[in-house]
Amino acid sequence: MCGIVGYIGFREAIPVLLKGLKRLEYRGYDSAGIAVINRQLAVYKKCGKVANLELVCGEASLNSTIGIGHTRWATHGAPNDVNSHPHCSGSGKLAIVHNGIFENYLVIREGLIKKGHIFESETDTEVIIHLIEDVKRLLHVPLQEAVRLALRQVMGTYAIVIINEENPGELIAARKSSPLAIGVGEQEYFIASDATAIVEFAKNIIYLDDHQIARITYDSLHVVDIDNHEQKPHICELEIELDFIEKSGYEHFMFKEIFEQPQSIKNCMQCRLDTERALVTFDELEDYKTEIINARRIIIVSCGTSWHAGLIGEYFIEKYGELSVEVEYASEFRYRSPIINRGDIVLAISQSGETADTLAATELAKAEGALVLCICNVVGASIPRASHATMYTNAGIEIGVASTKAFSSQVTVLALLSLYIGQIKEKIQPQTAAGLLTELSKLPSVIRKTLQCADTMQFIATELHNFYNCLFLGRGVAFPVALEGALKLKEISYIHAEGYPAAEMKHGPIALIDDKMPVIFIAANNDSYEKIINNIQEVKARKGMVIAIVAEDDTEIKKMADFIVEVPQVNDLMMPIISTIPLQLLAYYSALLRNCDVDQPRNLAKSVTVE
Ligand code: F6R
Repeated sequence: MCGIVGYIGFREAIPVLLKGLKRLEYRGYDSAGIAVINRQLAVYKKCGKVANLELVCGEASLNSTIGIGHTRWATHGAPNDVNSHPHCSGSGKLAIVHNGIFENYLVIREGLIKKGHIFESETDTEVIIHLIEDVKRLLHVPLQEAVRLALRQVMGTYAIVIINEENPGELIAARKSSPLAIGVGEQEYFIASDATAIVEFAKNIIYLDDHQIARITYDSLHVVDIDNHEQKPHICELEIELDFIEKSGYEHFMFKEIFEQPQSIKNCMQCRLDTERALVTFDELEDYKTEIINARRIIIVSCGTSWHAGLIGEYFIEKYGELSVEVEYASEFRYRSPIINRGDIVLAISQSGETADTLAATELAKAEGALVLCICNVVGASIPRASHATMYTNAGIEIGVASTKAFSSQVTVLALLSLYIGQIKEKIQPQTAAGLLTELSKLPSVIRKTLQCADTMQFIATELHNFYNCLFLGRGVAFPVALEGALKLKEISYIHAEGYPAAEMKHGPIALIDDKMPVIFIAANNDSYEKIINNIQEVKARKGMVIAIVAEDDTEIKKMADFIVEVPQVNDLMMPIISTIPLQLLAYYSALLRNCDVDQPRNLAKSVTVE
């Protein structure tokens, strides 16, 4: 949600900033802008994607080795040129880029207006850069100190980078609850919301902590905290393969990522699944084994697709771990007065590790004394850092805004976790575990086979993409799959879609069924086969078009459905992933046929760092 970059070094700043912004574009694409200093501060900004900004920058004179940039997902103020970042101070000497929300900006704005400040935009960010300049002037302090003192007055979340025409050899960066990384090169520094924008340039990285303020010059880095205590930054090695952030010949990241799933699942299972000893191991949970064995409940907190993974995890953990699970939207959990008892474990699930609500729920649970675990795909992200232990999904960076491979790897970790809990609590017979693990180890090859349904899904999409509404139904563990299928379709093709437990259809949604309402049944699970057949009959009786995802040994549903998608016959730990893959492809092809921007659907952003 908004991507920010900064550069100081020996290279031309503009190309570096533009490249970084393109890498971060998945975080927001309402507008983009940069500011550089070449004797004077120059700001270029444009509504729309980074490509528009590039055209504007084509006219810019080069010869600048310091600058900041921003790609925006609009919060305060419409997405237009004026509201785009960078924003300047009253004197025009300071420029800022910001990711997050300054919640008390209106009060500060009023105070500054009384002092004579004039604002051009409607944004919270412009107010803060005016405040910083105000503090700097009043107290005659250096910029880093002015930023620190100003930040003490603000409420909200931020990652900011500031440049100063009066001192063109320094960048100031600070963060609270929004991510910010500093790439350390030879005589140069790169700043970015995440490491994808840095990986081509630097091999070492510093993740700034909350409440830290860094002053970066051409050859030095000085970090203090909000109370002005010196901080020693921790430099770590960047481990990102460039291949993950390139399309590598594919037309879309989403398609590439769907097809990466055999490998991403393999990476996810590696070192955790030991078929020879019939054991699941989670080294990262070793210190918490006793708490897990004695746990009374797991509360899963997450948002969106990760919440769907959590619902699937509920089935797995209750069945194989014999442990009670509750699954909560992080945004609801954090604003109730959740009761966290002794023996409760809170498990946060987040692909990005930066989702504001999930992060806040994690922090709340930790403050209440819970053991907080998380499942995350991004090493070093805020949620892992706020948790006691992290199970990384190791799926590789996911760039497509619609989550695909990250979801399947979350579900894989949850499947393994459920067996791990069952094992350490001695609830699973060794023979049962051995059978399940042998099956699970085949998941990458079964996914490869499932991906062969791509042509079928493309064909079904030619029919589906003409409809305005669509219902996804499933029973048992197929219900969260239905939710996920509906979310994928609506977010990238803009076809309205709802996921429902199939048995609930007759309690309301059945009123919608007619020949304009296609219904997609996820019917590859055996446990409720007869019942789902009844639901299909109910839809057919009302002229609804039926698309059914079935196991390859299906005999009955094939006779009834208008479209059939056969997937390999697998056990219940694998079924949700195997059934989701056709739905990912269906959403992808439907979006293509509707000329939608698959990788950057309107109004969305990959990393939702505002609540
Ligand atoms: C949908 C999607 C979103 C995210 C949600 C949570 O395809 O990607 O619904 O799942 O914004 O994001 P994370 O998992 O990063 O916390």
